[in-house]
Amino acid sequence: MDVALESDWDRLIQPGMVHGSLYFEDAIFREELEKIWFRTWVYIGHESEVSQNNDFVAKSIGPMPVLLVRDSKGEIQLLLNRCPHRGNAVCVQERGNRPRFTCPYHSWTFANDGRLINYAFPEGYEGTDKSKLGLSKVSRMANYRGFIFGSMAAEGPSLEEHLGGARRVLDQLCDNSPTGEIEITAGFLHHKTRANWKFIYENECDGYHPAFVHSSIFQVADSRITDLYGADAVAVTRSFGKGHTEVDPRPEFRARDMPMSWFGTSADRLPDYVRQMNEAYGEDRARQIMIDGGDLPQSVHRRDSAVHHPADLRSRVGPARDGPAVQGRAGHQPQTAPADHGIGRAGGLPAGRRHRDV
Ligand code: FES
Ligand SMILES: [Fe+2]
Repeated sequence: MDVALESDWDRLIQPGMVHGSLYFEDAIFREELEKIWFRTWVYIGHESEVSQNNDFVAKSIGPMPVLLVRDSKGEIQLLLNRCPHRGNAVCVQERGNRPRFTCPYHSWTFANDGRLINYAFPEGYEGTDKSKLGLSKVSRMANYRGFIFGSMAAEGPSLEEHLGGARRVLDQLCDNSPTGEIEITAGFLHHKTRANWKFIYENECDGYHPAFVHSSIFQVADSRITDLYGADAVAVTRSFGKGHTEVDPRPEFRARDMPMSWFGTSADRLPDYVRQMNEAYGEDRARQIMIDGGDLPQSVHRRDSAVHHPADLRSRVGPARDGPAVQGRAGHQPQTAPADHGIGRAGGLPAGRRHRDV
């Protein structure tokens, strides 16, 4: 199929159904990079990942490798991990602590704020303005309560405008700390998924599948998690607009009315934490926070390689390239996308949504 994109979106994305080519067509993926990932704000990492001067961690914006750095003066920098000389990666480590990056190809050396410090055979560069040859920076960087975002677009909505209602979910997460701040100290659970990136997000806000896919672990853990996704669940799947969604279990936890049941524990097992929460927020507010728990809005809930488009997906995704549009998931009633702030029941939300607003 020859996809004439600019004029074809309305044919590919219809109420309650999307065409399978959205999951494997190279031209569509390239346009998604250009129109979504290189324009919007992308979650990069948390400032606690670079807590010390000279700390760095390798991240990415889509396929673009970037370095999240706390430079020698303590400023956070977001640098492209691409040498301005010949495009080599200047850093191949995942994380570390160093004041400079030396490109392994021809040994150009950069300060960790991006400035070019030196190059090999400097006599060949006489009269060159080094200040123009530093590492490029991600055009915009913003920090919301410790969460660092980057945007490749020099202009556009502010991060707070972009997050919109999803800010509430970040606030909810941070409010579970008596200091209102969190640190990432436990590392990450890395997932590598050989799938188009949209599958990840679709799965993350799909409250329909856990009772089946994850039933064995729910039974072993005896966690009552099953209740969140059962036929009688009152948890909801919510769209905040601008691609932000959440599965919001608060209605279920509020019905239970037990602090920290979301965490599989109880207040009497964590007396120090409860005391600090009460001191920080007052007993009523602290109790509500501890009942509600915290989770991340899914479009912020970034996997380290956020954009995937493996070519071999073609063989796995039905229908055939010129076949009919995918209609929800097998056996499910298709459903038109909820409007911004629309709410569907997490336990029973059919999966057919429009996928343009990602
Ligand atoms: S590509 Fe980096 S120094 Fe040549
Ligand atoms: Fe799942």
